Amino acid sequence: MADLGVNIDHVATVRQARGVSYPDPVPAAAIAEMAGADQITCHIRCDRRHIQDRDLEVLAATVQTRLNVEMATDEEMLLLAERIKPHQVTLVPERPDEVTTEGGLDMTQPGVLDEVSAAVARLEAAGIRTAIFADPDAAQVAATVKVGAGTIELNTAAYAEADNDIDRDRELARIASAARQAAKAGLFVAAGHGLHYHNVQPLADLDIIEEYNIGHAIIARAVFSGLEDAVRDMKALLD
Ligand code: PXP
Repeated sequence: MADLGVNIDHVATVRQARGVSYPDPVPAAAIAEMAGADQITCHIRCDRRHIQDRDLEVLAATVQTRLNVEMATDEEMLLLAERIKPHQVTLVPERPDEVTTEGGLDMTQPGVLDEVSAAVARLEAAGIRTAIFADPDAAQVAATVKVGAGTIELNTAAYAEADNDIDRDRELARIASAARQAAKAGLFVAAGHGLHYHNVQPLADLDIIEEYNIGHAIIARAVFSGLEDAVRDMKALLD
């Protein structure tokens, strides 16, 4: 059975929408672990729109499974990782105005391979495992091996966004092929982005991917699975 990394960013999104102290992603991580999460994932963005430095500090001290922090290769982020020392850093590209991560790190672009190699070397020297978020593409898998990361997280966004069976099957085949290539090259194979309750099973059926990082769909479902109790609790106080 594959591992599940639960991404708790959007608990923090709700908190930041009001600038208050709740809901706190730290207890969300503990609840996810009690429910069987194998890993807690979060993304510290340069604009701090959801996860804050304090969250990382407390999560690093309290997560019982593994803390996987997604971040860009900026100097500020690398310094933060070296200070906080999560179990793993997943390097992702980041564009300031994007709504969410828009694609994998394109290591075929001039300079990116060197920049990512340097970041991986620094993180590994600090005792932090490294993963690369990459599109399911042969050149990106080969580049992930070259930069020295132990894990590739295949970007499943194009698969998740496909709106017809032909495109979905083509994207599934791309992921399967990249996953096989990565496993053969000795990489640990993870996948994520845009996965939800209705699209994850065909990927799981491939039986090649060893870990899934899923956030938005889990937090979105938690809103509805908890809403009835939340309303009842408030009614009880008014009564
Ligand atoms: N993996 C990576 C590298 C991501 O950037 C994200 C989004 O932060 C996820 C997984 C989780 O994506 P989603 O919230 O769509 O499940």
